[in-house]
Amino acid sequence: MNLWIKNGHLLDPANHCDEICDIYIKEGRVAGIGSLSSDEKEEFENAEVIDAAGKYVMPGFVDLHVHLREPGFEYKETIRTGTAAAAKGGFTAVCPMPNTNPATDCPEMIKRILDIAGRDSKIHVYPVGAVTKGQMGKEITDIAGMVQAGAKAISEDGKSVMDAQLYRRAMEEAAKAGIPVLAHCEDKNMVGNGAMNAGKKADFLGIPGISNAVEDVIVARDILLARETGARLHLCHCSTRDSVAMIRFAKEQGVPVSGEVCPHHFAMTEDEIPSDDANYKMNPPLRSRGDVDMLCQGLSEGIMEAISTDHAPHGEEEKKKSIADAPFGIVGSETAYALAVTYLVKKGYLTPMQLVERMSTNPCRILGVPGGDLSPGMPADITIADMDSVYEIDKNTFVSKGKNTPFHGTRVQGRVHYTIAGGEIVYQYSGGK
Ligand code: DOR
Ligand code: ZN
Ligand code: ZN
Repeated sequence: MNLWIKNGHLLDPANHCDEICDIYIKEGRVAGIGSLSSDEKEEFENAEVIDAAGKYVMPGFVDLHVHLREPGFEYKETIRTGTAAAAKGGFTAVCPMPNTNPATDCPEMIKRILDIAGRDSKIHVYPVGAVTKGQMGKEITDIAGMVQAGAKAISEDGKSVMDAQLYRRAMEEAAKAGIPVLAHCEDKNMVGNGAMNAGKKADFLGIPGISNAVEDVIVARDILLARETGARLHLCHCSTRDSVAMIRFAKEQGVPVSGEVCPHHFAMTEDEIPSDDANYKMNPPLRSRGDVDMLCQGLSEGIMEAISTDHAPHGEEEKKKSIADAPFGIVGSETAYALAVTYLVKKGYLTPMQLVERMSTNPCRILGVPGGDLSPGMPADITIADMDSVYEIDKNTFVSKGKNTPFHGTRVQGRVHYTIAGGEIVYQYSGGK
């Protein structure tokens, strides 16, 4: 089916296009932009028409960091439900992290994820392979084999590889295979049983703290290893002011490094944690105002190149526990766009075009996959959304199995209306909340 998206405000960083114009989709690809010749127009006479007046038409968002929980934790999420949640959030592609059970740590597991995704997902799934077998930190995985099977990156997400020598060897392998290393930065020995940001709030609630240095020492180490190995290093869920400062410094030195910020880390500080409520627990934790301001500044300047969700669904019972005992993580797929519009665009940190760069163009470049670009011939992965609708986030409307969010009831601006992947409409807003 051909598709004609009319009257929308096109935002395409790749072509510096920031104006109202039509876009035509044929056979899953962008066929043309603006006005077509009369011959070409004929082809679209019977096309399905989307009226995008008053909305932005953008290259599809790409989430570099999600947890789909399959296999192993299907009660939390599945590839089917997690990708449906992502599609609802405007994402046309997601990168599932390897902390499944068994861990995604070999070519067979990468194939298994891709098989399930082929059956159950309407959006692109780019699996991430583990750095060490079973994520035990002892033995490097078959990185080249996993890449051949379809892995687009490696990561030990959920933890750091504490053995720097082993990590250096993995980085060398990744550099050889041409894929990025997505780094979760957390010093295992320093974190102990820390469960929220170290400071007054943690003291008040009597919960062990996680200091900024837990993240910062591993960020510093990984940047040095990237410099030595030439590996493309992407730092996951950066939460501290010094992470931003170190990425800035590394970029100035020409180290191949990039960084992502999650919506909860730019939209919320530890001051907003109302009580011992584990829906406010994630790793790294909500930080202080000074950190949040620096993350927003870093996103604004482009030091921080990507916004990703770290969508981490958990069961309701697990999250009823104290912050001290509950698992880390909150869901993010269905709230990311509105939080980015509300806390970054409306506050003047990002232009609408820069938002598209952080959510689409840059993630694609970091991962080395097509997308983030609406040039004729490119895959028709498109998100249509507004930046004006005002509403309250309601966790009961989530299609994710996880309802664990600290943003339930938060007033936001910006709604996704259509998500189109490979020319197919994979999500359409149908009114209501
Ligand atoms: O908050 C988090 N949740 N951080 C992680 O590193 C892991 C993730 C999860 O898997 O739940
Ligand atoms: Zn992580
Ligand atoms: Zn994660």
